[in-house]
Amino acid sequence: MSFRDGLAKGPRVFAVSSGKGGVGKTTLAANLACVLAEAGAKVLVFDGDLGLANVDVLFGLTPRRHIGDVLAGRCRLADVLVTGPCGVKILPASSGLVKLTHLSEGEKLLLLEEFEELATGLDWVFLDTPAGISENVLYFNLASQERLLVCTPEPTALTDVYALIKVLYRRYGVKHFHLVVNWVRRKNQATEIYRQLLRVVERFLGSVSLNFLGSIPFDRQVSEAVRAQRPLVTLFPESSATRAIRQVAAELDRLQIRPFEGGLQFFGRKIMGVCA
Ligand SMILES: Nc1ncnc2c1ncn2[C@@H]1O[C@H](COP(=O)(O)OP(=O)(O)O)[C@@H](O)[C@H]1O
Ligand SMILES: [Mg+2]
Repeated sequence: MSFRDGLAKGPRVFAVSSGKGGVGKTTLAANLACVLAEAGAKVLVFDGDLGLANVDVLFGLTPRRHIGDVLAGRCRLADVLVTGPCGVKILPASSGLVKLTHLSEGEKLLLLEEFEELATGLDWVFLDTPAGISENVLYFNLASQERLLVCTPEPTALTDVYALIKVLYRRYGVKHFHLVVNWVRRKNQATEIYRQLLRVVERFLGSVSLNFLGSIPFDRQVSEAVRAQRPLVTLFPESSATRAIRQVAAELDRLQIRPFEGGLQFFGRKIMGVCA
């Protein structure tokens, strides 16, 4: 796999979201991070979900600090990071996140500077978002360069992912999205789902582009890995879901990503003001 040797001006930042919960966002973000890190990249997963099955649980980690400690001046953002499997860095979820969209100007600036410093050595950042279209979900999506949407063949997953695209486009003019279909049980199911979503998007949200990145089959070993609190891709390197996640990682690596305009837009100055 080729990474942007020498060309990198900052990490590629992807928000991973879905609208609906339980569709595989955390599984995908955590395992993509592992695949990319195994190939030599420096990867950060920002756990933006306070739910139960979050990234540190998935990786069997017990973080001691969180963003709230940074805002309280008790430590630096770098001290909050935990190193997980394959060397993936994890920024743990925290109750401090609840007020991410309600930070004071001083707090925003503090976090912004901390993020800028943190991001200089990174190749990839995945923001694992909660379900729904809450302020935090929109914020993470706006703070990212690219948006990776996860959907399953369930009708509610489709309507929820459409609702997320719609609000990001109508309210903020976000036009580019990538789609991964998870929990696929038969041949052609993923492309059927993609076409179905694309049809509605093209009909009602004219200039939105939806790029199909790949699909992941239903695989019992996914939940076995969750129970073992180990990454699927290392515990079951030959499983069908692992192979599919590797393909998605290769697709991600091939994407042409618009370069940052300078500095870091991840939680960048403009973005900081958007949802606050
Ligand atoms: N492809 C899959 N095959 C089987 N189980 C899966 C698959 N993807 C996710 N799961 C299971 O579904 C549950 C929810 O996944 P998770 O990644 O936590 O979803 P989300 O982050 O979207 O809420 C987990 O228990 C996980 O093991
Ligand atoms: Mg999750």
